[in-house]
Parts: sequence; C-alpha cells; structure tokens
Amino acid sequence: MADATQTKGATARRVRKAVLPAAGLGTRFLPATKAQPKEMLTVVDKPQIQYVVEECVVSGIEHIIIVTGKGKNSIEDHFDYAPTLERFLEEKGKKEQAALVRRISDMVQVSYTRQKEPLGLGHAVLVAKDLVGDEPFAVLLGDVLIPGENPATKQLIDVYAATGVGAIAVEEVPKEKTHLYGIVDGEPAPQAPFGARLLRIRDLVEKPRPEKAPSNLAITGRYVLPPQIFDCLERTKPGAGNEIQLTDALRILAQQDGLWAYIYNGISYDAGDKLGFLKATVEIALQNKELGGDFREYLKSLKL
Ligand code: G1P
Repeated sequence: MADATQTKGATARRVRKAVLPAAGLGTRFLPATKAQPKEMLTVVDKPQIQYVVEECVVSGIEHIIIVTGKGKNSIEDHFDYAPTLERFLEEKGKKEQAALVRRISDMVQVSYTRQKEPLGLGHAVLVAKDLVGDEPFAVLLGDVLIPGENPATKQLIDVYAATGVGAIAVEEVPKEKTHLYGIVDGEPAPQAPFGARLLRIRDLVEKPRPEKAPSNLAITGRYVLPPQIFDCLERTKPGAGNEIQLTDALRILAQQDGLWAYIYNGISYDAGDKLGFLKATVEIALQNKELGGDFREYLKSLKL
C-alpha cells in the first residue's frame, strides 16, 4: 500500500463523483414497492434517496450518478425542476415551500444510467463506468441512511485523500447477523489521524454464515474506490445469489492495490427492511427540529 500512497498526486485523490445504485426491485418491501421505487419510500418527510444525496453533498461530491431501472422514473422527477408546482406555490404565497422544492433540484448535478438486467450490485456499479471515467468515486447504498454533518462518505474521502488507497466503511454487527452483510477480515493498521479505526483488508466474504465469518465487522454500504475497481468488476464471476457482487470485486482490488476498512464514527440506520425502516423513521423523527419534541411526548404517552 505504501507504494500506491507515494505515486498518487493530490488531484488524482479528489473524490468528485458518487454512484448510487437504485435499480433493485425492492422485494423486501412488497407490497409498498409494487408500483413505486423503494428509494422513494418516505422516512419522516423525505424520500430515502434524498438522505443519500444529501450525504453526498455534505461530503463534497459534485456529480452523482444514479443507476436506475424500469419503473424508477419518479427518482428523476424528484431531482428535476417542478415548474408547475413551484409556480402554484409562489402564486399561493408559499415562498418557503417553493424554495424547498427548488433546492432539491439545485443541490448537485445528477446523471442517470440504467441497469438493464438485475445482475447484482457489482454489475450496477460497473454500468456507471463510462460516467465515472478515470477517477476515484464514492458508492452509497440507498438502504442505509447516515444523516448528519460528518457522514461515513466524508470520512472515507478523508482516508482516500490521505492515503490514495480505496476505503470502505465497516461497523460491528452481532455475530448471528453476518449472513446479512459483506464481512471483512482486516488487520489493525493504525496511522494518524485515523488511529485504530483503520484496518488493512486481508479478505472479504459476502454474507457468510456466522461459523464461516472471519469477523463481525460488516460492510455498511459506503465505499470510496479507485477507478481500478472497474477492471476488477469485469473480472468478477457471479457469486452469492448468482449475482455479480461488489464484495467479490473488492477482494481482487484488495489483493491488487490494497484496500482499507474504516470503522467509521457515527450512526447508520438500516432502512432496507420493514423493521429497520420503522426504527429509522422513529429515530430520525426524534431528531427532527420541528417534530422531535412532540413526537417524543407522544411515544412516552403510549406507555408500552
Ligand atoms: C449489500 C452488500 C453487502 C453490504 C450491505 C450493506 O448487500 O452486498 O456487502 O454489507 O449491502 O447494507 P444487500 O443488503 O444489498 O443485500
């Protein structure tokens, strides 16, 4: 890894782009996702994908590439201008709401490309190859919400900027849940200013049973990767679930160029299944400036 660190210049380390895979069918959320994308399910007052786009913006990303599929047009509409709605709100004197709606479209540049077949997360990232080009980029999975001012993506970008080596966010999960995540085998590689949060990845396994898991450090769904990942993806054969797994391509990358696991600082909400979605909704509502106080009182009044 030291060699890679020395050969990369500061410009080559600037992370300007992010890929958001959003082509999945959302089968864990039926029937809600029968006719609407899971990325558009609302947590408190925003669709899930807006939280993820906001994480990109807070992290300094300038250009987001959303990988969509059939039935996902409402995502494009959400980040587009809405002249009729804006004019209507202006005419009714609802200037703040009009500005709120406009801000969503002005946040950042967004491009779209489509994954024509559901061949896996790795394949979805590969579909963005031409739009990313020859530069490092972030990947954010929409099921995981990390609100706040210093989200995991920002922390990974700092690791990449300092080392020139790709980094993925990890967090501890209960041992009996390893089969739900990509799991890393990492050795401590403390270095300033990241300290003991930084691990050098020896290997990664996608969704191992607890007895086969090399650790309980799970991939959170945030990655900052060099463009070499695309060659790795092209060499990756279908793996778990007969899909082209990003985790399998990361194994190749880790062996070839090195890869960090970073125990990020913060809290993530897994909104990918029904219970996780409910927990995310409650916790994010409690933090909401307008609703939090009243909502807390309401929860207390339930006397469960
Ligand atoms: C994906 C990744 C997995 C990661 C997880 C995080 O799995 O393949 O490595 O741990 O996201 O949410 P999925 O949840 O899409 O099955």
